[in-house]
Amino acid sequence: PVLTFCELWPYCEKRCSYCNFNKYIPRNLDEQKMRNCLVQEAQTLIQLSQVKRITSVFFGGGTPSLANPLTIAAVLDTVSQCAHLAEGTEVTLEANPTSADASCLAEFQKAGINRLSIGVQSLNNTELKLLGRNHTSCDALRTLEEAKKLFAGRTSIDLIFGLPGQTNASWIQGLEELLTVCDDHISLYQLTLERGTSLFKQVHQGTLPMPDPDVVSEMYECSRHVLQNSGFHQYEVSNFARNGALSTHNLSYWQGSQYIGIGPGAHGRFVPWGDGKVHREARIQTLEPDVWMKEVLAVGHGTRKRTELKGGGEDFQLKGLIPSSQSLGWQWWVGPEARNGWSHSDSYLDMVATFQLWRIQRLLCYSSLHPSAGPGFPKLGAPAAFGLQFTSSPATGPGSWDYENCSPTTAGDLSFGKLI
Ligand SMILES: C[S@@+](CC[C@H](N)C(=O)[O-])C[C@H]1O[C@@H](n2cnc3c(N)ncnc32)[C@H](O)[C@@H]1O
Ligand code: SF4
Repeated sequence: PVLTFCELWPYCEKRCSYCNFNKYIPRNLDEQKMRNCLVQEAQTLIQLSQVKRITSVFFGGGTPSLANPLTIAAVLDTVSQCAHLAEGTEVTLEANPTSADASCLAEFQKAGINRLSIGVQSLNNTELKLLGRNHTSCDALRTLEEAKKLFAGRTSIDLIFGLPGQTNASWIQGLEELLTVCDDHISLYQLTLERGTSLFKQVHQGTLPMPDPDVVSEMYECSRHVLQNSGFHQYEVSNFARNGALSTHNLSYWQGSQYIGIGPGAHGRFVPWGDGKVHREARIQTLEPDVWMKEVLAVGHGTRKRTELKGGGEDFQLKGLIPSSQSLGWQWWVGPEARNGWSHSDSYLDMVATFQLWRIQRLLCYSSLHPSAGPGFPKLGAPAAFGLQFTSSPATGPGSWDYENCSPTTAGDLSFGKLI
């Protein structure tokens, strides 16, 4: 088998106001211990998967650019000792503008990183403040310039849209500005209002207004046009590349590939052949770094939860979500019963049904259907971050979506419908 590999570094300098990722502000971090545990868990899980070849490596976070480059090098050494890591395999590091200065970036490159994903988020300092970022637009532009010199053609930027106070015009203006300086890859994320974040609280207390969902939908549509006009190809819902700079790692999630996740809170999906199993398992590693380290030191890994994945389920859904020439078409993601019940027309291949798949687990659905969608295809409602419910279709009757497990609650009931 071949797999992709993801390492999570769970620490950040500061909590951003919108983020509910598993991250901690370190106090007396023992990085040597952390490094040893990451190496140990990588060894254990790679052996368990019996993988022969790793097709991409991703250091995500948290803020992995805060890690010592020696830690990155140690994990990469382990990966290449335990499985084949071909020369030139994509190895990405997520970097925050503040923690990634030029000398540091060069060290990461020496450690084996060959692709960088920079969390620019916005070029507007008021917006950066609102997001609780600890960098300015100047910091981000400087980091981007330095990164482009070292990782030419392999530097990506993350941007967030749909922020409180943002208009379509202000968003597109910022995007166009970035297009004059960016490299060949951009990831656009619609702001998800996450429970437990300070932004969530402010919006719910009425101190910050979220933009109208239809405006957010327009932002996304306009971005797609602007990016297309600048030579970017949309190869997945949030990801755009030109000059062939697609990320193998991003794509592999959408293609339903197996992946190993190591580090606190990491997720993985692979067949644990080493345990004599033949079905793929979803694995979640223990969230809290100190507890995770204890577990790794005791048993070699910190897997907290394992779920056997027998059906097509989630993986089946993943395959159909690629809105590109590689897509199998709309009929794949509406589910088998809907496919049987509804006649298929090529015009629907063009429809824009937008799903943002968030680290495989959280599914957002928004946007609209193709304008030519007929009566069997009710127009989707406004963007919504939580709880999807699909209304009835003529063919399948009422349906609902299991948000936690990313699947329809009963077989075949997934259809186009209204969001709640
Ligand atoms: C988990 S972060 C890690 C990268 C790095 N720590 C940073 O902040 O740039 C990966 C990306 O997720 C996106 N993100 C995190 N929380 C989000 C949210 N609530 N809504 C939309 N995007 C989000 C940000 O764009 C961020 O660049
Ligand atoms: S967005 Fe990035 S830097 Fe900010 S808290 Fe989340 S992981 Fe950390």
